[in-house]
Formats: sequence, C-alpha cells, structure tokens
Amino acid sequence: MAFTKKRKLVKNGKTLILAYDQGFEHGPRDFNMENVDPEAIFDIALKGKFSALAVQAGIAQKYYHGKYRKVPLIVKLNAKDRFDNHNPLSLAHTSVEYAKKLGAIGVGYTLYLGSSHEQEMFKEFGRICETAKSLGLITMCWMYPRGPKIKNELDTNTIAYGARIAMELGADIVKVKFNGDVEGLKWIKACAGKADLVVAGGKKIDELSFFEGVEKAMGAGIAGLAIGRNVWQDKKPLEVARGLNRIVFHGKTAREVLEENRGL
Ligand code: FBP
Repeated sequence: MAFTKKRKLVKNGKTLILAYDQGFEHGPRDFNMENVDPEAIFDIALKGKFSALAVQAGIAQKYYHGKYRKVPLIVKLNAKDRFDNHNPLSLAHTSVEYAKKLGAIGVGYTLYLGSSHEQEMFKEFGRICETAKSLGLITMCWMYPRGPKIKNELDTNTIAYGARIAMELGADIVKVKFNGDVEGLKWIKACAGKADLVVAGGKKIDELSFFEGVEKAMGAGIAGLAIGRNVWQDKKPLEVARGLNRIVFHGKTAREVLEENRGL
C-alpha cells in the first residue's frame, strides 16, 4: 500500500529524488550528447543510489527495463512546454493506472498556483490523489506559484500557501523552490504538515555553492531534494550524487563532502 511504498521512498524521514522531466519542461537545450540519453540518467540514478527517478511516461515505457527496474520510479502525469510560462496550464496526458502498469511507485504532478487555470489543476490533482490512494501509489506535487496573480514566485508566504494547498489536496510529497531563507523554509515545512517537503535544485551552479545551498535547506529539517540539472549536467554526476547522499542521509556539511570527494 502507499504507506509501505512511501517508507521505501522516504527512509527515516529523508529522500533524494532525481528529476529528469526537463526535456519536456525546458527542451533539449538543457542537454548535451551524454545526458540527452535517458539511459545515462537511469545509470546515474542506480549507481548514485537515488531514492527514485522522476520521468515522463514515454521515457519509463522505453527505458525502465532490466537492471534499471531496481530504481524506484515516479511517473510525471502532466507537463507543459517552456513557451507557456505566463499563465500556465498543465494537464495530465497519462494516467495513474498507466503509471502503475509501468512499475511506478508514485506519480508526480506540477501545479501552478496563481495561474488563471489553477482550479482545473486543483481538480485534476485532487482526483489523481484519490486514484493513487486507491491503487497504492505515492503522490508528489511540484508546487510552483506562477501566473498573472503571482508577483514574486519566490516569496516565502506564497510558497508556503502553495505547500499548504498541495498537502490539503492530498499530496504525500510536496516539492517547492528554495529561496535561501532557512527560517522561511521551516514555516513552509510546517504548512505542509504531514506531507514530506523537498526542494528543487535550479540551474547548474558551482559545486561549493550548490552543496552549501543543500546543507542550508536540510538545516530547515525538510525531507530532502528532487533535483536534476545540478546532478546530470555535472561532469562527475556520481560524485555529486555521493555528496548529496552524505548531506541528506548523514548530515554532513558541504565542506566535508567536498573534502571527501577530493580524497576519492
Ligand atoms: P532542476 O533541479 O533541474 O531545477 O529540476 C527541478 C524541476 O522541478 C524539474 O523537475 C522541472 O522540470 C523543472 O525544475 C521546472 O522548472 P521551471 O519550470 O521553473 O523552469
């Protein structure tokens, strides 16, 4: 059931999810000749000991085979392209039932709070939560304030409002962006209640700043991360994965993991 699956995904309250839905959300401009290949990302997820990999259904259908079946899978049910960011609407293009057939442990859904289409997404995600619960799948909401009603996507109270709505709609895991405010993130976590809170990674930045940001976010007591580009755009993704594992699951600092990685 979903509870047992959630325990697999969130171990001792912590989780490290690899996100690879950017091909659809941003386009191939995020990729190079290596990371454009979904198999390379399944390999990072497996060898890098990620708690799960989040991809679109088509990628799961074509690449979730053989040894990669060891990687817990989250299937994203909706997506939009990057041309549609002013007043976004992102609706499901596949189902919870199909995600289950593909072998998923959970389903993901991006919801744009503040879009004039938010009611459609609230309704759809609410129904998805109902179906996922009855089929024993975990639900994860990428909660992104965006649209004409939003002045600042990174405002702490707006993010907290989104986290609350995601939890009230039924999300087991809520993913938000981290604006650097640790006290604010503690409040956002409180607003998410019993849903586990994870943060996104953002554009690729240098390793020290990235690890420091992760250390800071984890300091707010959140469950972990659901990130992509800072892992698979790095020249040594497995070293990044190792560092993240050490910070998220073992409470190491950014400096400690950089030193450990240098000693490898
Ligand atoms: P990154 O760690 O690469 O930022 O990925 C996190 C993520 O939530 C992806 O899952 C998603 O594709 C992307 O960010 C969406 O970000 P935005 O719509 O803000 O560009």
